[in-house]
Amino acid sequence: MTDSCEVEGGYADQDLPFDVPNTVTEVLDDEEKKVLYDRIEKLLKEKDAVLVAHYYVDADLQILAEKTGGYVSDSLDMARFGNECDASTLVVAGVRFMGETAKILNPEKRILMPDLDANCSLDLGCETKAFSKFCDEHSDRTVVVYANTSAGVKARADWMVTSGSAVDVIKHLEAKGEKILWAPDKYLGDYVQQQTGAEMLIWDGACIVHEAFKGTELEEMKKARPDSKVLVHPESPPSVIALADFVGSTTGIINYAKDSDAKEFIVATDRGIFHKMKAAAPGKVFLEAPNAGNSATCQSCSHCPWMAMNNLKNLADCLEKGTNEVFVDEKTSRLAVKSITRLLDFSKDQGHVIYGANDA
Ligand code: 13P
Ligand code: SF4
Repeated sequence: MTDSCEVEGGYADQDLPFDVPNTVTEVLDDEEKKVLYDRIEKLLKEKDAVLVAHYYVDADLQILAEKTGGYVSDSLDMARFGNECDASTLVVAGVRFMGETAKILNPEKRILMPDLDANCSLDLGCETKAFSKFCDEHSDRTVVVYANTSAGVKARADWMVTSGSAVDVIKHLEAKGEKILWAPDKYLGDYVQQQTGAEMLIWDGACIVHEAFKGTELEEMKKARPDSKVLVHPESPPSVIALADFVGSTTGIINYAKDSDAKEFIVATDRGIFHKMKAAAPGKVFLEAPNAGNSATCQSCSHCPWMAMNNLKNLADCLEKGTNEVFVDEKTSRLAVKSITRLLDFSKDQGHVIYGANDA
C-alpha cells in the first residue's frame, strides 16, 4: 500500500477508470490579455451575463469575475451566488458539476461554460447507474453525496453536501440516528466519519489532485519549518489530514490564512487558490505541500487538469457564440434540486457565513 492511500482502494495504486486530460495552458502576453479582457467585459454586458469562477481556475479569470461584478468562491457559494444574482446568463468557470448545479437551481437561466469537458475525477468515478444500484442495495440508509457529482447522482440522493458543510450535515443526521450512504470521496467521507462518529458506508472515489499529497514528505517539511501552519482540504489522504493545523473548504483555508497570526503556510490543495490567498493575506508566505516522494503517483502536480481547461479564449468564445450551454433533463433536475435545496436551506438555518473570502 502506498503512503498516499491509507484507506483501501483509491486511484493511487491502480489504473484510473477514466482519462485525465493533459491540459496545456497557453501563455498570453499583456497585450493579448487586455484585448480578451475588453472583449469579455463588453460581451458580459451585451449578453446580460455574469461570470462565476472557482478559486482553482486561472487567476486571470478570477480577476475578471471580480472586476465585472461576478463572483469567485468555493462550490457552495458559487451555487448560492448563481441562485441569487439577477443576470439571465451565468458563465461558470469551473468544472462540469458546478455548471449543472447552477442549471438545476436556475432552470430559467442560460448557463454557459468555457469547456463542457472540464470534469472532475470524483464525478467521473461515480457513474449514475452503478451508484443507483449501490443505493438500491442499501435502501435503509440516508444517501448523502458530495457536490462533485453528476446531476444523475444528485437526483438519487437525499442530501448534497460540500466540503464546507459536510461535517455539520452528517452531525445533524447522526443526531437523528440515521445511517449514512456516502459518495463519492472516500477521504472526505473518512474525515467526516471521524469527526461525527456517524455510521457511514463509503463509496470508493478520490480526487486525483488531493490524493497525491504525501504525508511522510509533509511531515519532513513541517519539521524543517516549525513556524508554518499546515492547511489541508479534506479531500486529502488521512496521513496528510493528520498533520493539519486547519482542515476545511477552500473558503475556510483562505479565511484561516487571513485571520491567523502565522506568517507562513503549507497548503495542501490546488495551487490555483494561491491567487486569492495572497490577496487575502498580503505579505504572508504560501508554500505547496509536497505531492511527490518515494511513492510518487502524482497525476496533477497540485493543479486540477479539468479546472485548467478554463481560459480567457474559450470564455470569450462561449459568450460570443452562445456555445457550451449546460442542459439537465427536466426529470433529473426536478429530483436533484431537492438534495441541493436541502443543503442551501440547512446552511441558511445554521447561519453559515455567505460570500466569506471575497470580502478579503
Ligand atoms: P470546495 O467546495 O472547497 O471549493 O471544493 C471543491 C473542489 O473541487 C475541491 O477539489
Ligand atoms: Fe475534482 Fe479534484 Fe479537480 Fe476538485 S480538484 S474539481 S475534486 S478533480
